[in-house]
Amino acid sequence: MIGANSAVLSLVEELHELSRASDGESRSLQAMLSHIVRSFGAQSGSLAVIDRLQPEQLRIVAGIDLPPGVVGQTVALGAGVLGKVAQSGEPMLINGELKRSDDAAGKDREERAKGAPRSAICWPLAIKNRRVGALSMNRLADAPPFTDDDVARGRSLVTLVALVVDNANLHTEQQDRIERLSQLNEEMRLMNAQLQSTQAQLMQSEKMASIGQLAAGVAHEINNPVGYVYSNLGTLQGYVGELLGVVRHLRGKGVGDAPQCDVDFLEQDIPELMSETREGLDRVKKIVQDLKDFSRVDTSDEWEHANLVKGLESTLNIVQNEIKYKAAVVKQLTPLPEVPCLPTQLNQVFMNLLVNAAQAIPDKGTITLRSGFDERTVWIEVGDDGCGMSAELQGRIFEPFYTTKPVGKGTGLGLSVSYSIVRKHQGQIELQSAPGKGSTFRVVLPRVRAEQAEKTHD
Ligand SMILES: Nc1ncnc2c1ncn2[C@@H]1O[C@H](COP(=O)(O)OP(=O)(O)O)[C@@H](O)[C@H]1O
Ligand SMILES: [Mg+2]
Repeated sequence: MIGANSAVLSLVEELHELSRASDGESRSLQAMLSHIVRSFGAQSGSLAVIDRLQPEQLRIVAGIDLPPGVVGQTVALGAGVLGKVAQSGEPMLINGELKRSDDAAGKDREERAKGAPRSAICWPLAIKNRRVGALSMNRLADAPPFTDDDVARGRSLVTLVALVVDNANLHTEQQDRIERLSQLNEEMRLMNAQLQSTQAQLMQSEKMASIGQLAAGVAHEINNPVGYVYSNLGTLQGYVGELLGVVRHLRGKGVGDAPQCDVDFLEQDIPELMSETREGLDRVKKIVQDLKDFSRVDTSDEWEHANLVKGLESTLNIVQNEIKYKAAVVKQLTPLPEVPCLPTQLNQVFMNLLVNAAQAIPDKGTITLRSGFDERTVWIEVGDDGCGMSAELQGRIFEPFYTTKPVGKGTGLGLSVSYSIVRKHQGQIELQSAPGKGSTFRVVLPRVRAEQAEKTHD
């Protein structure tokens, strides 16, 4: 029993020590309860705390000298002494007979005979009006009953217990929050994977759209040489006919007069026709080759070492038709060291930049292509002297589906797709632009891929 203030103080200190070591586990709560019960010279006691998940219930988490099975039981808030005290927030001192509504009268009597509790105190556990639980203790009939003094003295002690329980709750909540966060994290990871697959689909659809756009241009481009190859062949057929007539006559197989044939003219025209025809076929061949390079289906995403200037030039050939009526193309290209890349995908980036540049030119203008490198990077620049962009516009152009172009002309995907392709290369797209002054897009790629960074990013 505590008689002097110093004893109270040392008890508080001891409890404080216990509470510091405590993580709210029932073992340490049990230790605290036992400490308090003993220091009050009580025989039994119980500690009940509000159930975190069911705040209308108290759960008995620790007990001293209680019948087996009591620890772990729940009590409704407002019911029984523990429930009433926890609810009202006022301590209760009970001297005399303890009435337990749920006990049969006979059993009650029996207990009393064995030395049933005669005096009890129950304190509420609360922190700043927040209910935490209740703590009760009992003295048996042969001990002196509790007094109001005891009630007052216990108040500060149970506050400590309340703090420990509350701390434990906070700890559990924190654990819950960490759990929720890691769940969220997992959800985000899934969403990210979904986004990535959506983006892959977007890239594919942008590619299809731009290939559709290109097809018309390429058809035109091929139609032209095929047209004159065809007409040259017609002319040649005529010449061959004439020459065969002469040969037949010379062999004495001809009928009538010797056929008229301007051999001098044929001698000059035939090689010209032949070389023009060959040129036309070469052009078709080149276009087909470029088209093959451009749209090669490497779904396997195979990394290669390639020269970006080559890719830019073959892409330029492909989109030449879109561009040539709008812009003169000035090339200030330095050969570049080969860099690890996905050439087909980079060609798509170049095509987007070239087509955008041409489309930004309202009437007639110039597209300037530059390249360069340093120890760590290589870069390709596509510049135009077209309409240029306001700062606000520049902030939006990489958004998927953002376009200022009429339906059918723009998908709004070109730059967002380009951006993700360049990011996949651990590179970046830099932009300089001002309204009315034109725009310059620069694609900068590292000469060496950082494998680790790539793995964690993808
Ligand atoms: N070279 C450029 N000059 C001016 N504006 C440009 C240029 N390139 C892109 N833009 C702007 O960025 C927008 C988005 O481009 P992009 O993603 O390629 O989609 P789209 O070309 O289909 O509109 C364009 O609609 C245009 O407003
Ligand atoms: Mg575009």
